[in-house]
Formats: sequence, structure tokens, C-alpha cells
Amino acid sequence: MAGNRAVVYTAPYTVQVQDIDYPKMEAKGKAISHGVILQILATNICGSDLHMYRGRTDLQPGTPVGHEITGMVIEKGSDVETLEIGDIVSVPFNISCGRCRNCKELDTQFCLSTNDLKPGGAYGYAEMGPWQGGQAEYVLVPYADFNLLKFPDREQAMERLLDLAMLSDIFPTGFHGAVTAGVEVGSTVYIAGAGPVGLCAAVSCYLLGAACVIVGDYNQERLDHAASTLGCETINIAEHEVITDQIAQVLKTPLVDCAIDAIGYEAHGHGHKANREVPSDALDTSVDVLRYGGTLGVPGVYMPIDSKGKTLHAKIGRPAFEFGRAWDKGLTISTGQVPVMRYNRKLMTSILFERVKLSRILNTTVISLDEAPEAYRQFEQGIAQKFVLNPHGVLKQPTVGADARVAIGV
Ligand SMILES: NC(=O)c1ccc[n+]([C@@H]2O[C@H](COP(=O)([O-])OP(=O)(O)OC[C@H]3O[C@@H](n4cnc5c(N)ncnc54)[C@H](O)[C@@H]3O)[C@@H](O)[C@H]2O)c1
Ligand SMILES: [Zn+2]
Ligand SMILES: [Zn+2]
Repeated sequence: MAGNRAVVYTAPYTVQVQDIDYPKMEAKGKAISHGVILQILATNICGSDLHMYRGRTDLQPGTPVGHEITGMVIEKGSDVETLEIGDIVSVPFNISCGRCRNCKELDTQFCLSTNDLKPGGAYGYAEMGPWQGGQAEYVLVPYADFNLLKFPDREQAMERLLDLAMLSDIFPTGFHGAVTAGVEVGSTVYIAGAGPVGLCAAVSCYLLGAACVIVGDYNQERLDHAASTLGCETINIAEHEVITDQIAQVLKTPLVDCAIDAIGYEAHGHGHKANREVPSDALDTSVDVLRYGGTLGVPGVYMPIDSKGKTLHAKIGRPAFEFGRAWDKGLTISTGQVPVMRYNRKLMTSILFERVKLSRILNTTVISLDEAPEAYRQFEQGIAQKFVLNPHGVLKQPTVGADARVAIGV
């Protein structure tokens, strides 16, 4: 039987590549027939992994991590009807049964069957069930007929794999951020955060017809990247105490129609507070810059409990943001994990017809499994790249966008 290797969280700021068991066709200690085993062809490091990497979750040391998985079916259970050995598939990070009430409503992010702790399962994630992480060579996908998005053509999929690899999470997440922020033709948008999710939100805003997208961050390298690849307007939030003044310089009015918080509970402050954590900063800035009646999408993660939070409010999951002002402005606020399945097929088609070239937009960098520990370190430091692990050596470094790439030494 084949072995398996995976990126394993061992302690705050430490992941290691370790040998783990080859996946078994079983869940909750019982044999299952609705699953497949995937050979993983591409698997990405995500900003959500950083919450665990920084020790800001309850993840147990020794857990294999990773939830952004694209792979090839190499084994299938006897009840799997729509997939064949050799199919290339995208794996939504939400693990959903397709049978419970929430799955039937396509709220697959809140599946009632795949996590005993609370609604919603995911691969290799704190408090999201017992599922093996996907920064590995092989993984089990349960309820495979329901979960997996099969690419229509194998050769085409292999050609575009680096772009398609973003369908498991961040492209649908950015798109969900834009949809739930009410972005439409002619919208003006402020996006807090120029990480991969912020960039996916920005390209999604353009797909939906936004007229102007302004991205804020204190990371100048990431802002420069958003400006050069997507033509976004940018604001370095470290340099300004009043963000609305900067918006007015771009729009000739200080307020936007839509805002997207692509950061979450580990946000830094702005202006003189940019060098320290201020968990409410993205929410407060969004409330500040939105017009009366505006809409805020919050794909950035917030936690019910953050024992390492810097303030009492943060520790008990109550970022002290200006809810009164939000109410007074009549803002609509949308929160939560993305239900990937609602969007991934449409976004796949836009990739296949080359409406979006995500590997260029995200400055995708292909690395080996063994390079993961160094990539985590660099990503945590805010490098303007999206790292894609290549456990079986099938991915090629993108030629477009490779200019900004830095080598990772091992
Ligand atoms: N809702 C979902 O289903 C879902 C899915 C994927 C990721 N996420 C979350 O989205 C968030 C972003 O993910 P990512 O991969 O882009 O992470 P990331 O950490 O790479 O990017 C976050 C960016 O925000 C910037 N930032 C911090 N404070 C700021 C502030 N006050 N104003 C402006 N910018 C600020 C940082 O400099 C960084 O560039 C994370 O919280 C992640 O967990 C949610
Ligand atoms: Zn992710
Ligand atoms: Zn379900």
C-alpha cells in the first residue's frame, strides 16, 4: 500500500512534513461506501491556516492541516455513481453530506452531519471535524458525488490546474464577499485586506461590474501587486488616520456603496495603530467608509472565542466595533464561511474561458511539500504570493507572473 506524507501542525509557528497513514475508506470509525481517495495534485496554503499556525485556535499539535485541495480520483467506494477513476476534481473545503436540511438548502458550510462539535466540517481545521488535512499526498473525500466538482476535460484541467486550484476556497470566498456586499454594475467598493482573499474579492467585483475597487492594507508590496495586476486603487492604511479622506481623493466622495472585510479577527489597526492588532479595525473602517444604506460582506474569519486575543472583548469573541453607527447607517452585514458549492461551477467556467487568470492575479508560486514550512513562514510575514504545494510534481511554475517570485531555499 502507498504511504502518505502531510504538512502537520506541531506547535505555534511550526509545521513539519511527516509520514502519516494512507487514507482509509472510513469515517467516524465506520467503513463508508460514498467516498473516494484522491491523489492530490495541487493544495494551497491559506490565510485561514495562519490562524492555526499562529496558535490562535484550539488545533491539537500533530494534526495534518490543509483544506484547499484539487486532485485525481484513484479509488472509489461502491456507492459512488458520478465519478470515475482518473477524474480530476476540485474539493470544496466545506465537507457536506448532501442529505441534511442545511445541505439541501445549499448551506453546505453548515452541514449537520460532518462535524460532531457544531455545524460545518472541513479538512484539517480546528473544531471542524476529524477529517485529515489536504496538504498531503492523498486524502479521503466523503460523500464524493455531492462534494466534488469534476472538471469537464482532463487535458484542459491539467493545463489550467493552477487557476482551478483556487476553486476549493479563495475564489468562491472572494466572490461570496463581493456578492454579499451587494456589488453590481457601477458599484464603488472598499476591500479591507490585500491578501489572496482580498485579491479574489477584487477580481470578483470586476466580474460583477464594479466601477471602482479600492483596496486597503498596510502591506505596500501587496497593495502594489493589487494595483499592477488588477488596476485597483490602493490605500496604505498605515499612513492615514482617516480612510474616508483617501476614498474622497479617488471617488470625489468619501463613501462607497459596498465594503468587504477580507481580514477578520487578526486585523491590525490603521494610522498610528497599524503596527498592532486591533480586531475591530476592518469592521469599524468598513462602517466608516460605507454610505447610508450600504452593504458589508465579511468573509474574514471571526471567532466565538479567541483565548489569545489581546483584549477581553477579543478573548470572548466580541470585537468592540461600532454597531450603533452601523445600525444608524442602516447597513446590511453578511457574515460566515462561504458555501463553496454555490459558486464553484460558475467560477470554473469563467476560468476555463479565460475570463480570469488567477495565477497571475495571485502571484501563484508552486512549491514542493518539503518547502511548506518555509512557505508558511514567508506567507505569515505577508509576502505577496499564494503558495500552491505540488505533492506529485505535476504542476509547472506559471510563466506569467513569475517575475515577482522569490525562490524558497530548502
Ligand atoms: N469565509 C470563508 O469561508 C473564508 C475562506 C477563506 C479565507 N477566509 C478568511 O479570509 C481572511 C483573509 O484570508 P487571506 O488568505 O487573504 O489572509 P492573509 O492573512 O494573507 O491576508 C490578510 C491581509 O489583511 C491585511 N490587514 C490586516 N489588518 C488590516 C486592516 N486593518 N486593514 C487593511 N488590511 C489589513 C494584512 O496585512 C494581510 O495582507 C482570513 O481571515 C481567512 O481566514 C475566510
Ligand atoms: Zn482556505
Ligand atoms: Zn449535510
